[in-house]
Amino acid sequence: MDQMSIVARADGLFAPVSLGELTLSNRVVMSPMTRRRAGPGDTAGHLQAEYYAQRAEAGLLIAESAQVSPQGRDAAGTPGIHSAAQVAGWRLTTDAVHARGGRIMLQLWHVGRVAHPLLRPDGALPVGPSAIAAPGMAETPDGPRPYPVPQALSPAGIADVVAQFRAAAANARAAGFDGIELHAGNGFLLDQFLRASSNRRTDAYGGSIANRLRLLLEVTEAVCEVWPAGRVGVRISPINPWGGMQDSDPAALFGAAAAALSVRNIAYLHVAEARTRRPMFGWSRLRDRFGGAYIANGGFDRYCAEAALSSGRADLISFGRAFIANPDLVQRLRLGVALRPADPAVYYGGGAVGYTDYPSLSLQQRMMRPAYDWRRAALARLHWW
Ligand SMILES: Cc1cc2nc3c(=O)[nH]c(=O)nc-3n(C[C@H](O)[C@H](O)[C@H](O)COP(=O)(O)O)c2cc1C
Repeated sequence: MDQMSIVARADGLFAPVSLGELTLSNRVVMSPMTRRRAGPGDTAGHLQAEYYAQRAEAGLLIAESAQVSPQGRDAAGTPGIHSAAQVAGWRLTTDAVHARGGRIMLQLWHVGRVAHPLLRPDGALPVGPSAIAAPGMAETPDGPRPYPVPQALSPAGIADVVAQFRAAAANARAAGFDGIELHAGNGFLLDQFLRASSNRRTDAYGGSIANRLRLLLEVTEAVCEVWPAGRVGVRISPINPWGGMQDSDPAALFGAAAAALSVRNIAYLHVAEARTRRPMFGWSRLRDRFGGAYIANGGFDRYCAEAALSSGRADLISFGRAFIANPDLVQRLRLGVALRPADPAVYYGGGAVGYTDYPSLSLQQRMMRPAYDWRRAALARLHWW
């Protein structure tokens, strides 16, 4: 491909795009990121509204995981979407983002076994597909504690989880979001049901791939009762081992998930691919099995994003950490100016510091136009495809 056509395709990152029922102003998506700054009652408030509004230039913001129930909470400071106060709190965010012309969806999660009784108001054990503890430690008010052996969900408990997601999806609608994303990755409850390492059930929710997919599909169908499918996305992370996630055949498992979700006509599949890309996993085969939009995530910079879009391997690109310290990331990517590094020490908890206090580009910085780095662009294409 010659240089002119690379430039023409590169513009695609900043071109409008359809995503299910939504029309987005560009293909830059803000990946969901837990920041643990919710107020009493796990409510988002003015602080979150300011944070997301600062980033509203993204084609789509996906707000951090919100727990669908008290049972689904993992740590202090994560917001919920199961109470009237939480709905009212999130309304501040959706209004602020919409006032700036942005689009925002909410990620819904239930953390399943990666929780601790000390993090639950009722002191109850966390739940999971099977009575198998996750490796690692929970951050409790009394300090780090090993994750306990969870209570294996009964069939009635599973039905209750599905109902929790349905109710939370309805709440997200009442709060003014443009859609919802189901968190089926990163070792949380829906992922725990998908993977063989955490799911040893012998009933209709365990064993075969079709059975391990059942909860995700039931939840997807439940949320599609309160949202049009064109405003629902699902996030998966096929090779992320966090939380003790393993499967003997992730390509078969997630290929089947992509195909089954495609039949349900949801808007998008959001895939945390990992920083190394790992082409041997066959990301493009996953994408080929899904009819909606494919959002790729994990370690992208401008040049890798352009390469992924211009090859047709992804429809949109989501950026996580880059959005933390660069509220005007879209503008910075467009201008090609350097990105500020984020400070991991303030990823979680606290207030405005490391959250809403990262500056946007000054007028002078916006006037600078660094030369397009053709070498990096060519390397990104070689590295990727
Ligand atoms: C502070 C922090 C919090 C995160 N919280 C979430 C989350 O709530 N839900 C989720 O799906 N991923 C979460 N992630 C993962 C990001 O969405 C993203 O997949 C990851 O940072 C890789 O993308 P990047 O290389 O562009 O940062 C989080 C990442 C970070 C750094």
